[in-house]
Amino acid sequence: MARTATSVQDRGEIAGDWDRGGSGLSAEATEFADAVLCGLGRRPRSIPSRFLYDDTGSALFEDITRLEEYYPTRTEMALLRTHGPEIAFCAGPVETLVEFGSGSSRKTGLLIEALRNLRTYIPIDVSESFLTDAAARLQRDHAKLTVRPMVGDFTKARDLNGIGAERPLGFFSGSTIGNLTHDEAVAFLDNAARLLGSGSAFLIGVDLEKSLDILIPAYDDARGVTAAFSLNLLSRINRELGGDFDTGRFAHRALYNGRAGRIEIYLESLADQTVEVLGERFDFANGERIHTENSHKYSIGGFQSLARRAGWLPMRVWTDKDNLFSLHLLRRP
Ligand code: SAH
Ligand code: AVI
Repeated sequence: MARTATSVQDRGEIAGDWDRGGSGLSAEATEFADAVLCGLGRRPRSIPSRFLYDDTGSALFEDITRLEEYYPTRTEMALLRTHGPEIAFCAGPVETLVEFGSGSSRKTGLLIEALRNLRTYIPIDVSESFLTDAAARLQRDHAKLTVRPMVGDFTKARDLNGIGAERPLGFFSGSTIGNLTHDEAVAFLDNAARLLGSGSAFLIGVDLEKSLDILIPAYDDARGVTAAFSLNLLSRINRELGGDFDTGRFAHRALYNGRAGRIEIYLESLADQTVEVLGERFDFANGERIHTENSHKYSIGGFQSLARRAGWLPMRVWTDKDNLFSLHLLRRP
């Protein structure tokens, strides 16, 4: 369940809830340790992508969003700027905005401008201090808005920490839904429906299928920012779990899996080597990989069928002239 961090001062109190069973590790740290030990122990090796987002990872993702090769952010922002008033009209008199994976909340400002009846904003993100700072910034810019950040995994949130969400609109930007497999995305949408309630609307940014000439550089940029974002996972393991990964002996690989319709990101061992994490030893053969991320690409119809599987009705969709990115407005009957 997600925790509410209503202000910077609250964080001390909330931190008290983290200690689990006297292990000395916070719940998030325990989950990270379990995910890494299980993930490195199985074949193929994999670690869930949400662990990419510690403070450094969130800052590196912001750098990615400003890269020339990374088209999704500027394209989605242009869609929000151009169609904000129409989105607000179609969504109805929204009073509560619930954002999943809000990150810097940079896009949210555009939506807030358009939603004239908005009173409460609930950003949910796993990257705690990034969330707290973004929420504080947004509160400063919109003094009349009640901002109630929730720290935690958006796939596991079972309620909005008692905050009554009146006339809610869900917002899931950046195509973060593409980081979930199709089954995970359906489960997420189904859970979001329960959180938001019937009659609610949901605005979701979804990246579209396109040529590999555009797709591959977006996930393997010339300056190596995306590589640094991926490799930070190993540095995070070193920092938080006493790992001894030599990040110079692993490389970022971004491949397109045409059958699954997704970019797959791996960290590939550049040598035969042994790594230790929390006292456990893991042998890597030269060329062996850890799968760290998927980024699914959809057709408009493909995403609408997925939404229908989870009980959401497609209401409107907006795309840019080059068909790079789409914004879907869904309604829960
Ligand atoms: N919506 C923003 C940020 C996208 S980056 C944008 O469009 O630019 C993805 C965000 O989702 C990050 O801030 C990351 O911390 C968060 N995130 C990823 N997996 C998550 C999960 N399972 N639960 C909560 N937040 C998650
Ligand atoms: C957050 N998410 C939608 C990004 C994406 O495009 O899949 C994460 C990312 N990973 C590498 N570059 C961007």
